[in-house]
Amino acid sequence: MSQANQVRTCAELAQQPEEFRIAIEKIVISHAVNELYGAQVFDEPAIRLAPNPYAKWLTCRVAMEEYGHHVRFRELGEEMGIPAERMTPAEKQPLSIFQFPLNTWAEFCVIKLLADLAEILQVEDLAQCSFLPLRNLARMTMPEERFHAQFGRDFCTELCQSEAGRREVQDAIDRYFPFLPAFFGRPQSRNNEIYRKWGIKQRSNEDMLADFMERAREVVGALGLTLPPAAPAAA
Ligand SMILES: [Fe+2]
Ligand SMILES: [Fe+2]
Repeated sequence: MSQANQVRTCAELAQQPEEFRIAIEKIVISHAVNELYGAQVFDEPAIRLAPNPYAKWLTCRVAMEEYGHHVRFRELGEEMGIPAERMTPAEKQPLSIFQFPLNTWAEFCVIKLLADLAEILQVEDLAQCSFLPLRNLARMTMPEERFHAQFGRDFCTELCQSEAGRREVQDAIDRYFPFLPAFFGRPQSRNNEIYRKWGIKQRSNEDMLADFMERAREVVGALGLTLPPAAPAAA
């Protein structure tokens, strides 16, 4: 999208065509809901699962940042005129990646390793968004999402030092990975077509998923582990 098509403020957004406004609303609501729900079902409960004070401290930081992402997206939504109650999991069904029942520390580390990598791809795409307040929000969020994925890599690496830990991490990957492709949406998605038409997103769902598969294989491979055999091919 050219410079001329950039939308600089919420006031300017209000003057845009309905299709553009609704598309931006959908993205802001989705992020506000899913950042909150993820913090509630994964990050906050993981503080209890963390095995030592250092791990608990870093997990608290992750939980604080995920709640913070919700707050930032919700504040932008409110500035756009979206009622706060439309930006809660009670009002909008959260993504299926959060249906995984979290029971162990290894599972949480795998979630950060893989789900936050998936989130990095989404945030990278939004960092070029034609609606500048959303672009800026994505750029602010990025260093924290990178920290979450690094947290996953570091603690998975630590767990993989022992044979029992390695088995636990591989088992969590095998069970959690199948939840992830749905995060990128359906192929030939009408919503995604609209997002690209308006320069809100840059890439198709298929392209993002293929990229994710490649990057996920790489991070899991670096641990000496593998993705489950049923995982879709990268192309
Ligand atoms: Fe987040
Ligand atoms: Fe995150």
